[in-house]
Amino acid sequence: MKKKRVITYGTFDMFHIGHLNLLNRLSELGDELIVAVSTDAFNAAKGKKTLIPYEQRVEIVRNIKCVNAVIAEENWEQKIEDILKHDINIFAMGSDWEGKFDFLKSHCEVLYLPRTEDVSTTELKIALNDFLKEHGAGFGV
Ligand code: CTP
Repeated sequence: MKKKRVITYGTFDMFHIGHLNLLNRLSELGDELIVAVSTDAFNAAKGKKTLIPYEQRVEIVRNIKCVNAVIAEENWEQKIEDILKHDINIFAMGSDWEGKFDFLKSHCEVLYLPRTEDVSTTELKIALNDFLKEHGAGFGV
């Protein structure tokens, strides 16, 4: 029987439990999960700077048990080509992207899954900043 393929896109900086929960839930939607990880150049074009470089973010996501393959997300326009090239059945993102990719519905199923509450890379950066302000950079060393 033909394999059901799922694809998602994201930066996955400072990989956290919200990322893991999303990937695990996405993998349950099909037989194979492909994750497109945003490159540093694409993030720079969006005005976004990561703490963890692209090569390491790819390595982390590639080694998550439920992930079958990782590709590079290099621009906004590549999605339709990716869907066709990888024979994708489901395109899915967290609910912060609700409605934003409905234009892909003519190519595959488009889903938005609820985010894990109270965790995000932004919140981690803020927490780290507060932590360093309180304890100093030398804390624990
Ligand atoms: N995600 C999620 N639950 C969270 C955080 C993220 O399901 N608590 C999902 C997003 O909806 C997205 C994917 O994980 O589909 C990758 O998100 P990314 O932007 O890399 O992570 P964030 O933690 O949201 O990063 P930021 O705070 O920089 O936006």
